[in-house]
Amino acid sequence: MSSAENQPAARTVASTQSEMTEIILPNDTNTLGNLLGGRLMHFIDLTGAMAAYRHTRTHVVTAAMDHIDFIQPVHVGDLLILKSNVNRAFTSSLEVGVKVWVEHPQNGTLLHVASAYLVFVAIDTEGRPVKIPALLPETPNEIRRYNDALRRREHREAEAARRKQEKREQAERLKAEAARA
Ligand SMILES: CC(C)(COP(=O)(O)OP(=O)(O)OC[C@H]1O[C@@H](n2cnc3c(N)ncnc32)[C@H](O)[C@@H]1OP(=O)(O)O)[C@@H](O)C(=O)NCCC(=O)NCCS
Repeated sequence: MSSAENQPAARTVASTQSEMTEIILPNDTNTLGNLLGGRLMHFIDLTGAMAAYRHTRTHVVTAAMDHIDFIQPVHVGDLLILKSNVNRAFTSSLEVGVKVWVEHPQNGTLLHVASAYLVFVAIDTEGRPVKIPALLPETPNEIRRYNDALRRREHREAEAARRKQEKREQAERLKAEAARA
């Protein structure tokens, strides 16, 4: 696997931190004026990609987005604040955490809206995965997230293997049924 050119061996979490603020407009909302879930996922993907890009300094694609709970509705006119950073870098992939808040424009109160973990993969111009710098966690929180990210990766891999096995068994069942018919 090739590496992205002129890369340091490692980067800090702080160097990946990214933030985006959006004002929610009618085009982002449903018929009741609430932010659409898909639109929120789009903002999460973009903010996550910024942290991944700052870490890898090369092209990245979203490989996975974990389960998201929408805790709090967001209304037209609200300010949406999204913050992201890399939790852990592996060989060509990295986990990014994104946290989202809504700021009430009149009184400035902040409420937690959603959190998500995304996996991005660094690729070259041919779409081949490339090696990325390691991540150096520095603070106790960064170290906790770094350790948790490995557990989540193992869980994703186990889940992917389970789905693959399920598909294989289903294909075998269909083949056996077709042979009996
Ligand atoms: C992501 C992608 C580049 C992986 O390519 P691949 O040939 O399967 O690569 P590999 O199997 O060698 O895996 C490369 C890395 O990606 C990770 N990866 C691949 N698929 C993954 C998935 N579904 N979830 C999490 N990680 C994944 C692997 O764990 C590996 O990580 P590592 O190098 O850090 O160990 C390829 O599947 C792709 O281009 N997917 C489409 C991406 C896209 O279009 N995203 C936008 C979605 S709308």
